[in-house]
Amino acid sequence: MNYLVTAGPTREFLDPVRYISNRSSGKMGYALAAAARKAGHAVTLITGPVALTPPEGVKVVPVVTALDMLTAVRAHLPKSEVVIMAAAVADFRPKFVSKTKLKKRTLRPVLTLVPNPDILQTIKPLKGKRLFVGFAAETDHLITEAKRKLEAKGLDLIVANDVTRADSGFDVDTNAVTLVAKGGNPRNLPVLTKTALAEGLVAMISHPRSTWADFRF
Ligand code: PMT
Repeated sequence: MNYLVTAGPTREFLDPVRYISNRSSGKMGYALAAAARKAGHAVTLITGPVALTPPEGVKVVPVVTALDMLTAVRAHLPKSEVVIMAAAVADFRPKFVSKTKLKKRTLRPVLTLVPNPDILQTIKPLKGKRLFVGFAAETDHLITEAKRKLEAKGLDLIVANDVTRADSGFDVDTNAVTLVAKGGNPRNLPVLTKTALAEGLVAMISHPRSTWADFRF
């Protein structure tokens, strides 16, 4: 199958030296790309700026901003059968971008932001028979938020990370997640390495959806 995986943060520039961003090392997304490649799939990895070496055999598309990521996702969507959005996309960008470094004395303490497009919601009408998997990084109301995003973004599955834990979420090599599949009950997984979680997810989604609830990680 053809996998499209996004990873890492996006950066939204205010001027050539300043940006706003989200936390993400890219480890989860890169683990997913590696797992899909290891399972024999063709993989396109659309990645924000991270300090990781991409897995071998994967087509890498580097991007910086959320708008870049949307353009890249749109371009690679037609040939993709599975889309996994593990990227931490910035929801807002500065309204004004200066070509030159803004001087401290002219900077105002209030930044005017405009919303970025939601990539999954933008491609939702093009889903067709593709499998869409999202991630959610949450500090509270994990399941409620995951269910809301699953519905709003037209996903088949959302992987909800509890980012308040030291062994889960950003930067670390392990993750504690709850899987919420469309029409299914939330399923808590034990703490797994991101590699084990990624390999399990790739194996699970290659099986019929009726077997997902019992799939062993
Ligand atoms: O990179 P690591 O350090 O390994 O950390 C992994 C992770 C915690 C970043 C990752 O596993 C994760 O949870 N990624 C999603 C982060 C997030 O906060 O997503 P969200 O709740 O803002 O968005 C939900 C889903 O919509 C995500 O699949 C996201 O990629 C997508 N999205 C979000 C915003 C946007 N404008 N467009 C989108 O498509």
